[in-house]
Amino acid sequence: MTANLQKDILILAIESSCDDTAASIIRNGKILSNKVASQGIHEQYGGVVPELAGRAHQQNIVPVVDVALHNAGVSLHQLSAIAFTKGPGLIGSLMVGCSFAKSLAQSLSIPLIGIHHMEAHVLAHFIDEPKPQFPFLCLTVSGGHTQIVKMNDYFSSEILGKTIDDAAGEAFDKAAKILQLPYPGGPFVDKYAKLGNPKAFLFPQPNIPDLDYSFSGIKTSFLYFLQKKMKENPSFIEEELYDLCASIQYTFIKHLMKKLVQASVQTGIKEISLAGGVSANSGLRLAIEEEGEKRAWNTYIPAFEYCTDNAAMIAIAAHYKFLRGEFETLQTAPFAR
Ligand code: KG4
Ligand code: ZN
Repeated sequence: MTANLQKDILILAIESSCDDTAASIIRNGKILSNKVASQGIHEQYGGVVPELAGRAHQQNIVPVVDVALHNAGVSLHQLSAIAFTKGPGLIGSLMVGCSFAKSLAQSLSIPLIGIHHMEAHVLAHFIDEPKPQFPFLCLTVSGGHTQIVKMNDYFSSEILGKTIDDAAGEAFDKAAKILQLPYPGGPFVDKYAKLGNPKAFLFPQPNIPDLDYSFSGIKTSFLYFLQKKMKENPSFIEEELYDLCASIQYTFIKHLMKKLVQASVQTGIKEISLAGGVSANSGLRLAIEEEGEKRAWNTYIPAFEYCTDNAAMIAIAAHYKFLRGEFETLQTAPFAR
């Protein structure tokens, strides 16, 4: 019997591309457990410190995998394969997950599966129902990437547009830093934006050709605006925090939505999805749903826990790779293609 005809496919997936150590167990395409350990240590530095991230992964990986196995009620010897994130990400972080996965696969004599982090964010749509139909468009927005991807099949995609400078998550985090909010600031901007007026302050929309994005100009105009206002009134940020969060979030979302609408019109595709950490943003989720109603789109947004970095998305992608019999050798390195 070949591996892909095996009856029960039980995979342990590990994600360690940045500052979250995560493990998940999937049986026959159904997630049994999904454990994430976030690394609070980076908060005091206002960003992820790669060296510290690698060290924390090394400390967290065994307990996180143990919890994932325990919560799924699964033991190591039952596993069919081990999956890991094969980039992109911080090399010191990726190395921990890759080396751990290799050692375990070798000791259990089972296949090793490498998963592209951004592909996994998109394939998170296949964890729960309803699942998008191919071809679909996916706005993939994370701390490191911002792309409009046309998904032709599980592992076949075309990038239709991408950011020419900052990623959307990075832009949220930089705006939050200007507002003196803790790192990562995206979720704080989201939280305070709910209490403010999105049209209180207007910031210019970037004028970028085709389906590409640019966020650095918005961030700069936000910075200059605040520097000027703070000179006039040093309590300006404190007094106007909710309106500032709502207005900058509105500006980011308007830019994201404009190109997504353009991509749908150009391709004629109305299966529209959202993936990556920024898809946790409540304003963006609402904007896609509202635009979807207007334009008769079928919209898909993964459950909250599958939006930011997690191992369940690696697990679902690994399930499909397992079915295709696509495995890594033990010489593999954790680099994206
Ligand atoms: O996908 P992800 O967890 O990690 C990367 O692969 O980058 O994305 C992290 C990014 C961070 O920039 C974070 O601030 C942003 O996603 N993020 C949010 C929200 N939740 C996470 N941005 C805006 N609103 C949110 N609710
Ligand atoms: Zn990510």
